Amino acid sequence: MASQPALISETDAWKDLKGHVEEIRMTHLRDLMADADRCRSMMVEFDGLLLDYSRQQGNTETIHKLFNLAEAAKLKEKINRMFNGDHINSTEDRSVLHVALRAPKDAVRNSDGKNMVPEVWKVLNKIKEFSDKVRSGSWVGATGKPLKDVIAVGIGGSFLGPLFVHTALQTDPEAIECAKGRQLRFLANVDPIDVARNITGLNPETTLVVVVSKTFTTAETMLNARTLREWITAALGADAVSKHMVAVSTNLTLVEKFGIDPNNAFAFWDWVGGRYSVCSAVGVLPLSLQYGFSVVEKFLKGASSIDQHFYSTPFEKNIPVLLGLLSVWNVSFLGYPARAILPYSQALEKFAPHIQQVSMESNGKGVSIDGLPLPFETGEIDFGEPGTNGQHSFYQLIHQGRVIPCDFIGVVKSQQPIYLKGEVVSNHDELMSNFFAQPDALAYGKAPEELRKENVAENLIPHKTFSGNRPSLSLLLPALNAYNVGQLLAIYEHRVAVQGFVWGINSFDQWGVELGKSLATRVRKQLNASRTEGAAIDGFNFSTTTLLQRYLEASSDDNQA
Ligand code: F6P
Repeated sequence: MASQPALISETDAWKDLKGHVEEIRMTHLRDLMADADRCRSMMVEFDGLLLDYSRQQGNTETIHKLFNLAEAAKLKEKINRMFNGDHINSTEDRSVLHVALRAPKDAVRNSDGKNMVPEVWKVLNKIKEFSDKVRSGSWVGATGKPLKDVIAVGIGGSFLGPLFVHTALQTDPEAIECAKGRQLRFLANVDPIDVARNITGLNPETTLVVVVSKTFTTAETMLNARTLREWITAALGADAVSKHMVAVSTNLTLVEKFGIDPNNAFAFWDWVGGRYSVCSAVGVLPLSLQYGFSVVEKFLKGASSIDQHFYSTPFEKNIPVLLGLLSVWNVSFLGYPARAILPYSQALEKFAPHIQQVSMESNGKGVSIDGLPLPFETGEIDFGEPGTNGQHSFYQLIHQGRVIPCDFIGVVKSQQPIYLKGEVVSNHDELMSNFFAQPDALAYGKAPEELRKENVAENLIPHKTFSGNRPSLSLLLPALNAYNVGQLLAIYEHRVAVQGFVWGINSFDQWGVELGKSLATRVRKQLNASRTEGAAIDGFNFSTTTLLQRYLEASSDDNQA
């Protein structure tokens, strides 16, 4: 029996796709788009969503070959192992079970032989009860006043996902109604300016601080938490912590050590990766405090709907699988290193920053899951801005400079429709005109002959020519309520997992963030020794020593505790 190749790039399916690239490169998207049958086969609908990937550089044969690659990568088996709670995060010896966070009450999702769904619902019920109390005013602060404002302190996965969902819901009519009179703010950066911005205009008497940290050791979060604890106790006394500070963590021992009552702690589990934690108490608690649990439950249901779809739909119609395979095609075969995430919705302005972490922390790896160096690049550089703002910023490069596959995300029904008398179209139609136009501009481009017909001056023709043949995909959501936001989140989470499964990497660890953290610890020690004992800078290279010297000399006045 032939032995199994150690790397996906050694499989016949990979080599077959490599061989197919030239053929695709010779075919312009303009021609591919002329084949209506091809385009029809590249549209998928599910639960109100429509994915159109006909503007990807590929034909039905490409898709067929990508399915062969999925088979060679044992994609279905890996998806099943994730849902079954196997320890697929092998370097941390953990299950990867964020799908359990939004599973229906009667579902079974085991980790280490234990069904975690009842545990999940225990925490969700506790959040519901607590957030109802805070919102109704039956939970009051140290001076007897209701707590109407919340600061969520956390960074990375303990921040970006909740901020994205909060930003998306902020303008949804139902969510607005539920959030009346309340504020939710996020303190992430250890920069003291972020503290100042967060507490400006807030009264400690009416503020609840939620400290969100999976490990409860993250330097930035813990310093920010201590800073807000000081803000509260200076105003209200030491006992106020029990009424004004709660925590979300997997490390309940450290929560208690910090001084937060364990009864006011909301647990999650080591099988939830930080960047996959928005559906745990990490997101559900702050969002429920702001919008009420019932709104957030809809968000969980939207994510769960995609989980079912991802788990059980054949690959031909499986949105996250198709998206993941196409991303692998773009990165590993067509050689495009970046991906632009372009929601035509201002409410999704924090979506790209969240997906940056989900995707780049997951798939920016240099070795296979078995530790073998990879002879190909994984992950892509994700960035994005809402359209139309991006159009007036970096689209020039996308149209005439580098080729960057684009995700266009549009919403059928605006959250906040406006139609001015006398205008040709409503404001949302204006926005969406751009959503429909941009993918075709990228795909078709504009040839010199067309410009000549328009009598463009000959010297300007090279400047005004658009080569086209630039891939994109379009995802149309019916609306942007809590349910749809949940769908969108889960689509991207699973897409990233599919990419990692195919590349054969571990998408669920993040060792790459450790080195910088440990070097910062050395610098912190040096700063302390220099400031308190006048110790000379020792053990750093010439460059860092010079920079540190300049910093220490010029900032001594600001550093009295
Ligand atoms: O940046 C590294 C990281 O570990 C992320 O993966 C995580 O989301 C973030 O730090 C915050 O970690 P914690 O929730 O433990 O404070």
